[in-house]
Amino acid sequence: MNELPEHVRRNREQWDRWASEYVAAAERHWAQESPTWGIWGIPESEVGMFTESIVDKDAIELGCGTAYVSAWMARRGARVVGIDNSTEQLATAHRMQRQHGIDFPLLHGNAEAVPYPAASFDFAISEYGACLWADPQRWVAEAARLLRPGGQLVFLTNSYLLALCASDIDGVAATNHLLRPAFGMNRIEWPTDLGVEFHLPHGEWIRLFNRCGFDVEDLGELRPPQTATTRYPFVTLEWARQWPCEEVWKVRRR
Ligand SMILES: C[S@@+](CC[C@H](N)C(=O)[O-])C[C@H]1O[C@@H](n2cnc3c(N)ncnc32)[C@H](O)[C@@H]1O
Repeated sequence: MNELPEHVRRNREQWDRWASEYVAAAERHWAQESPTWGIWGIPESEVGMFTESIVDKDAIELGCGTAYVSAWMARRGARVVGIDNSTEQLATAHRMQRQHGIDFPLLHGNAEAVPYPAASFDFAISEYGACLWADPQRWVAEAARLLRPGGQLVFLTNSYLLALCASDIDGVAATNHLLRPAFGMNRIEWPTDLGVEFHLPHGEWIRLFNRCGFDVEDLGELRPPQTATTRYPFVTLEWARQWPCEEVWKVRRR
C-alpha cells in the first residue's frame, strides 16, 4: 500500500468509503440487457462505446468498480478482465458475478500498473474509472502497453468544459462561469472529500495519445435526452442540454 502513488492511496480510501452508495446502481446495471452510459444513463445506441464487435476479443476494464461494464462485455462474447483499486467496490462486483452466474477475473490493483504482459488485450475501456481517477500520463501509457497493435481504447469521463465550470461546493451544480484556469489543468482535488481526479485540456489528451502510440478516432460530446434524470447534483439537465458534461474518447493503438 505504501508504495502506491499518493493519489492512488487516497482514491482507494475514498472509494472504499463510497462503495456502499454504488450497490443499488450495480444491481440495476448488472440486470440490464442493453448498456446505458454515464450519469444520465444514455443508451448505447446514442453513445457507441461498443461500436466494434468484441466477440472472442480480450478486453480489460480499467477501474471497473462494480464491473457492470465488464459484465456487458462478457455477455457480448469477450474474454474480460476487470481491475479496480477498491476492495469494497470489488466485493460488490464479486457478489454480482455470483448472482448473475457470470465469471471473469477481477484484480485488485492500480490501473496505472496492471500485472499482465504487454499486448495482452484487443480492447480497453473505462467509464469514469481510471480515466478520471488515475494519472493520465501513467494509465494511458499502461493502456498502450496492454493493447495489441490495432487494439482500441474507449473511455467516458467528465467533459473538459464541466471541469472548468464545476462548483467545488458539495451539492451545488455547475454554472455557466469558468471557475478555474484551463492552462495547467491536470489534477483536481475537491475540498469535500479525499478523492483526486484528473482532467486534461483536449490538446493535452491528443498529445499524450500521440506520445503513447495511439491515433485519435473520435471525441464524442454527449447530450442527454430531454427526459433524462441523474442522481448526481453537480450538473443540471438544463446545463447538460446546452453544453457537453460528458465526453467519449476513442483511440487506436498503432
Ligand atoms: C465511478 S467508479 C467507475 C465504475 C463504474 N463504471 C461506475 O460508473 O460506477 C470509479 C472506480 O474507479 C476506481 N479507481 C480509481 N482509481 C483507480 C486506479 N488507479 N486503478 C484502478 N481503479 C481505480 C475506483 O476504485 C472506483 O471503483
